[in-house]
Amino acid sequence: MVQQRKCKVAFLVLCIFVLMFTILMQDHLKKSFNKFDVLLATQLTSSTAVDYRKIYQDRSDSITERCLKQKHKSVILKSDRFKYSDKAKVVLCETPKVASTTWQIALLKLGGFNQEINDALMKKWAYQPMPNQLLSHLKTEHEASEIVRNYTSIMITRDPFERLVSAYRNKLSKVADYPYYRDTVGKQIARSQAAEYLHGVSLAVVQSPTPGSLDKSPQFQNLNEEQKRGVIEYAKILKNGEVSFKQFVRFINNYAKRMNVKDMDIHWRPQTDMCLPCNVNYTYVIRFENMVAESNQVLSWIQNDRPIDSPRVNITGGQPPSVKNSRTKRYFEQLDETEVEILRKVYADDFAILGYDPYKYNATKTV
Ligand SMILES: *[C@@H]1O[C@H](CO)[C@@H](O)[C@H](O)[C@H]1NC(C)=O
Ligand SMILES: *[C@@H]1O[C@H](CO)[C@@H](O)[C@H](O)[C@H]1NC(C)=O
Ligand SMILES: *[C@@H]1O[C@H](CO)[C@@H](O)[C@H](O)[C@H]1NC(C)=O
Ligand SMILES: *[C@@H]1O[C@H](CO)[C@@H](O)[C@H](O)[C@H]1NC(C)=O
Repeated sequence: MVQQRKCKVAFLVLCIFVLMFTILMQDHLKKSFNKFDVLLATQLTSSTAVDYRKIYQDRSDSITERCLKQKHKSVILKSDRFKYSDKAKVVLCETPKVASTTWQIALLKLGGFNQEINDALMKKWAYQPMPNQLLSHLKTEHEASEIVRNYTSIMITRDPFERLVSAYRNKLSKVADYPYYRDTVGKQIARSQAAEYLHGVSLAVVQSPTPGSLDKSPQFQNLNEEQKRGVIEYAKILKNGEVSFKQFVRFINNYAKRMNVKDMDIHWRPQTDMCLPCNVNYTYVIRFENMVAESNQVLSWIQNDRPIDSPRVNITGGQPPSVKNSRTKRYFEQLDETEVEILRKVYADDFAILGYDPYKYNATKTV
């Protein structure tokens, strides 16, 4: 009896030991895995850091190569899109919706601008140009091309469709920063496409300031309830300019068919048309998709030969959230494949020259 009990106790003790050993080992194993992760991560970072310059060289080379397939265009460099600093010897192609404010500030600071960048200043810059030097202010195209050739030149690129969604959201949707674009472009789009939404009711009646005009109009009275609701909804859009993404895309597609892309608003004008990568040999082409890391890398090279104790310009904050492509995907699902196909043509040069995949975003509906 006694021996049996002793045996049981010994077995129990053994069990506890085994259990503790397993727990400890697991912890140890986990720790060593973590250590391995960290090690791997540092190795990866340092090896990419070594190859970083080659990445930029390869990017510039690929752009040059893709440009060979394009018709040679003569262009004007003396434009507002090019901002530069004589002091820093840097020229930047500034593309709205592609980290433009961040980089304009970096360029100002590289040139010695030492005013504190606070909210009041940012608000001011939302309405008026930032005080960068502009190639457009030079006297001759020759001077502009010398600066572009002699200085370190930088372009930041972004997936054309992600940029388009970003422009729509910031300028025309209900989450827009300021009502200016809805009041101008948005209302203009709403009026020009009204016929498709008003079921034969005239625009004059829908927009009439006289109360009750709509209800009294015979065309409106003849509509069924669903059509009436549609007209009332659209009357709101006519008033606030808050057009849908689909309407915005139709506007771009019509516009680009009729007009020169050069006349498009800079927020959705193709990047290649503003930054002219087939005419400018950019020293650094930065990808918006990895903007913070790449910008700081480039900024550190630019400042390499500065005295060690002089203030260093860098970009802080996280990577912009628009890297999330789920948002762009959601907007493109509202389109028809024919509409997306026309958009691909409008931005064909951006896709082809800057190296983005035109089929990353498809419409789900097919016609
Ligand atoms: C650009 O470089 C050329 C050749 O070195 C020089 O003659 C010219 O003055 C420079 N121009 C500018 C604007 O820096
Ligand atoms: C860009 O660089 C290439 C090769 O280095 C050269 O052939 C070309 O003329 C340059 N283009 C301009 C506009 O400077
Ligand atoms: C950016 O600059 C600030 C101020 O000079 C410095 O404290 C910070 O460490 C820098 N960050 C990076 C990532 O270089
Ligand atoms: C979009 O469509 C193209 C061509 O039909 C296809 O090759 C591509 O895989 C599609 N992309 C996605 C994300 O579904």
